[in-house]
Amino acid sequence: MNKRSVRDLDLRDKRVLVRVDFNVPIKDGAVTDDTRIERALPNIRYLLSEGAKPILISHLGRPKGEPNPQYAMDPVAKRLEQLLGEPVLKLDAAVGPEVEEAVENWDGAGVVLLENSRFYPGETKNDPELSDGLAALADLYVNDAFGAAHRAHATTVGVAERLPAAAGLLMEAELDYLDSVLQSPEHPFVAILGGAKVSDKIGVIESLLGVADTLLIGGAMCFTFFKARGYEVGASLVEEDYLEEAKRLMEEAGDKLVLPVDVVAAEKMEEDAATRTVKVDEIPAGWMGLDVGPETVELFRERLSGAKTIFWNGPMGVFEMDAFAKGTEGVARAVAGSDATSVIGGGDSVAAVNKLGLEGEMSHISTGGGASLEYVEGKELPGVAVLPDREES
Ligand code: 3PG
Repeated sequence: MNKRSVRDLDLRDKRVLVRVDFNVPIKDGAVTDDTRIERALPNIRYLLSEGAKPILISHLGRPKGEPNPQYAMDPVAKRLEQLLGEPVLKLDAAVGPEVEEAVENWDGAGVVLLENSRFYPGETKNDPELSDGLAALADLYVNDAFGAAHRAHATTVGVAERLPAAAGLLMEAELDYLDSVLQSPEHPFVAILGGAKVSDKIGVIESLLGVADTLLIGGAMCFTFFKARGYEVGASLVEEDYLEEAKRLMEEAGDKLVLPVDVVAAEKMEEDAATRTVKVDEIPAGWMGLDVGPETVELFRERLSGAKTIFWNGPMGVFEMDAFAKGTEGVARAVAGSDATSVIGGGDSVAAVNKLGLEGEMSHISTGGGASLEYVEGKELPGVAVLPDREES
């Protein structure tokens, strides 16, 4: 990473506004998956050990620019305090005289957590007034929210333009891992893509075809490729508008692109639906493919063996239902058992890895779904682009 790092800053006695991605799932007032909070801890602990006073800010959900108790940061504050083992002073706003006064009177112990940035309409508009209000609270700004770096918002861009800014430790690790995959991967490099839609992943497929030796494709998006090949795919999900694009990608990729050979098909997308494992060109009329089959898992396992670099994004099937989870599970186990540098690119594939308890077996699991895909696609992330380069420090 060529951006200025939190390690390049003189932090002693400084108030540091830290953008974190605490956009975590919450049920009945409690955090149900604290991975993103856990992953923000090293940066927060580093700041504390250097004598800084961290003031944390994050979005939570999509409350549409107004306060909504359902998306208040209180459950996050509670969990953060447990995990950090330091006091968390949670404020009920993010800007304004009361917040300024509370920060002024803060005894400096532990951290401050501001209220959800998306309670303000100015957040998603990157509004100068909101950015000014936030910048007034601190001496320095650190962005450790890789998961939100693809958003050009006040807390990711506006504030970075107003305070001396740097990347946090998690942001740094995320960028370093993704850069190692994209810029200097050890070969053989095998990429695996899944998920429902080809339309979401065209840029990612093209980018990976440029750098990987093999691209394994599973998930419902494979049916658009099969239909483009002229197979009958029954009631499987197909993006009719993307058949030509799928054809083009297959021609461009040649042998690099490996599609499933068998699928688990069902009459409906229900846990207890009747299922059949069939060849990809033998899906019965009215049935839909909902997972890759065992021969495909074996094929993918073979292609993954000997890989030195693996990038994986997107499940192989409807893994939330046990009947259609075996493909994703098989791929997850193959990646976990490999000696390769393995990078899991956010979203559902991370949920699958966590569900199987395999997170310790992967080299890097990204905290950003949309952000990691945009980065792999070669897009500039506004929250990263705005940070000064290291040489400038
Ligand atoms: C995420 O969960 O991917 C990030 O926190 C970004 O959330 P958003 O898609 O609501 O901007």
